[in-house]
Amino acid sequence: MKHFVNLKDIPTSDLRKIISDAKKRKKKRKNLNALDLDKNSPLKGKLLIQMFEKSSLRTRLSFYLAIKQLGGGALTLRPNELHLKEGGESLADTAKILSTFGNAFMLRTDDDAKLEEFKKHLNIPIINGLSPSSHPTQVLSDIFTIEEIKKKPISKLKICWIGDGNNNVVNSLIAASVKFSFILNIGCPKKYEPNKTILNWVKTNNGNIKVFNDTKNAAKNADVIFTDKVISMNDKVNKVKKLKEFKNFNVNSKIMNYAKRDSIFLHCLPRGSEVSNEIFLSKQSKVWQQALNRIHVQKSILLYCLEKLR
Ligand code: CP
Ligand code: NVA
Repeated sequence: MKHFVNLKDIPTSDLRKIISDAKKRKKKRKNLNALDLDKNSPLKGKLLIQMFEKSSLRTRLSFYLAIKQLGGGALTLRPNELHLKEGGESLADTAKILSTFGNAFMLRTDDDAKLEEFKKHLNIPIINGLSPSSHPTQVLSDIFTIEEIKKKPISKLKICWIGDGNNNVVNSLIAASVKFSFILNIGCPKKYEPNKTILNWVKTNNGNIKVFNDTKNAAKNADVIFTDKVISMNDKVNKVKKLKEFKNFNVNSKIMNYAKRDSIFLHCLPRGSEVSNEIFLSKQSKVWQQALNRIHVQKSILLYCLEKLR
């Protein structure tokens, strides 16, 4: 069994295997319905238990369909329906029960330490479905989407992130840039640059990341422009103030024009006011394809975790 908690802890060769399996599986699903099964139902009889401590639309739907298409089933738990917090049942006992009843556990949490605690006590794989510090399933799927659209390995592309340089999605993108050796430019206000620990990790691992406090230099000649909400779910900040601090970092046609003519726009969703409607709804925007690909990549992540990757 294998856990899927942080991209930086997973060998690149395994991440590559996941992407290539997803590519093959997606190809074979042309003309199939959402609940049609993949050939041979490789996860027949398996139960994915998923729990959300924070809101979710895409991650919830895509994991549900992922396990179903592989022949298994999913059960979604709400944390307030368990005995775990107020009810006084320990995390260790909860983990024991999850491991006895289910085959994999997907957790979206408001506390990174909880992922580690569950990992310690579970006998089944745990998948990080977003935490305050990372969003690895999203970013691996985004690598898949970029290579699918650009028809090139991501190492040959220039990726640009405009927005909060210190949130879960960009943290995973930074980890991915080291794992997959691509150039990553981050354009963000000075106060919101990636934290020192992450930048030191990048340095130690020979990453190629540049941080700019303006959008022009960050977006120049980029193949992909990414952004995300300025206010993340775990952000306990003065929202009005933070939104003001990002007013020059909203993705609009001016920023897209700094990038290559055939550049694409990506956003993990949900969106706020960090991207203009014009760009969000333009041909350059691939956000719907990006969202749908979550299903394909997460199927291969589930197979990886359950040691069934071909
Ligand atoms: N992108 C993403 O994780 O979406 P949800 O929060 O809707 O799951
Ligand atoms: N950074 C965002 C991502 C949502 C999918 C958040 O954590 O709210």
